[in-house]
Amino acid sequence: MFDFDSIHDRQAWSATKWVRYHDRDVIPLWIADMDFPVAPAIQEALAGYVAHGNFGYRSVPRELPQLLVEDHRRRYGWAVDPQWIVWLPGLVLGLNLAVKACCAENERVISFSPVYPPFLQAPVLQGRQLVDVPLRPTNAAGTVHAIDFDRLEEAVQRPAAADGALLPATRLLLLCHPHNPIGRLFTPDELDRLATFCDRHGLLVCSDEVHCDLILDGQTAHRPFARVMAERSPALLARTITLHGPGKTYNVAGLGIAWAIIPDATLRRRFRAAMQRLVPDPCSFSYSALQAVFSDCEPWRQALLAQLRVNRDQVSAALERMGLAHSHPEVTYLTWIDARALAAEVGNAAAWFEEHGVGLSDGAEFGRPGYLRLNFAAPPALLHEALQRMEHAIAALRQTSRRASGDSA
Ligand SMILES: Cc1ncc(COP(=O)(O)O)c(C=O)c1O
Repeated sequence: MFDFDSIHDRQAWSATKWVRYHDRDVIPLWIADMDFPVAPAIQEALAGYVAHGNFGYRSVPRELPQLLVEDHRRRYGWAVDPQWIVWLPGLVLGLNLAVKACCAENERVISFSPVYPPFLQAPVLQGRQLVDVPLRPTNAAGTVHAIDFDRLEEAVQRPAAADGALLPATRLLLLCHPHNPIGRLFTPDELDRLATFCDRHGLLVCSDEVHCDLILDGQTAHRPFARVMAERSPALLARTITLHGPGKTYNVAGLGIAWAIIPDATLRRRFRAAMQRLVPDPCSFSYSALQAVFSDCEPWRQALLAQLRVNRDQVSAALERMGLAHSHPEVTYLTWIDARALAAEVGNAAAWFEEHGVGLSDGAEFGRPGYLRLNFAAPPALLHEALQRMEHAIAALRQTSRRASGDSA
């Protein structure tokens, strides 16, 4: 019914994913967008807007906030007040604005690595301090993780510096929920403990939930962290900023629309103040796409999830054959791979796979050198070709090292 098979020439349209390798035969499986066309309903909505032919300034369509409110009630059981919504042209921007709005200069911001790079960069870029609290690996390969509550406790301590002054306070937690790149959902117990922790230490939380509509197991529901906080105590809702948008699920990252949900009026005012004269409105095209997302795209999303499950399993089977430990993601289209042993043989594993025709993300950018992230949101034939290239490269390497050890024996 929907087309997830055709391979389109994205190079011709300067897709960021593809132009990186414009002069090389490399299949790009790196940046988090999908090599699938958008839902027909989005395409039709955009075609309608193009046909009307006027692309001057455009305000948020009057019905859009209410569509968002209904969508959040239906999907996440969360009653959002339309006044809480701040429209944005992107989520990374939202992370940076949250840091500015929540912390004074030099105050400390917690992120859980490995994580999507802007979570590590935003505190530093905004003149605050990053406190990296690494997730605790729960398997030897470091492909499954849990929140490390002991290290979290240490991170909020304020020992005196040499001159006797207290270290700046830890003010904010940047939460990636669900988490990119580890591809898992935090358990209800972890979320409840985290809310308790934030309550006890007076932390504000900015929760980026952009991957939450890509839960691969259809039985599991997303729990917005703001809802978790509110369930603990209604007052805790005021400590949250939730970031979300259609970019990942509906493959419209290039249209530039996202939103922050900020229930507390003072925090919302501070967030808006940080935006003043610096942040443009979302792109006028994006409103049409978003209206379609909220009204007409559920059958397409369900079909997408079915395709992603197939692709995920294909990736897992291939990595198994290659002997590379990896995550089996519960959410989104990103597999996290332990390539440390490979890197010990070949040097940088991302560069090595690139030489063999596949472009992956280097784990170093996420705070974990030696790991790789593979984006499997690609037509099956393209993904199959990429996995074959990887398998052949590994098989050839194994053969060479067997021959070398045979020669030296
Ligand atoms: C967790 C997360 N937040 C934000 C983004 C990017 O959002 P935007 O393009 O709207 O800045 C990504 C992209 O991969 C992401 O994984």
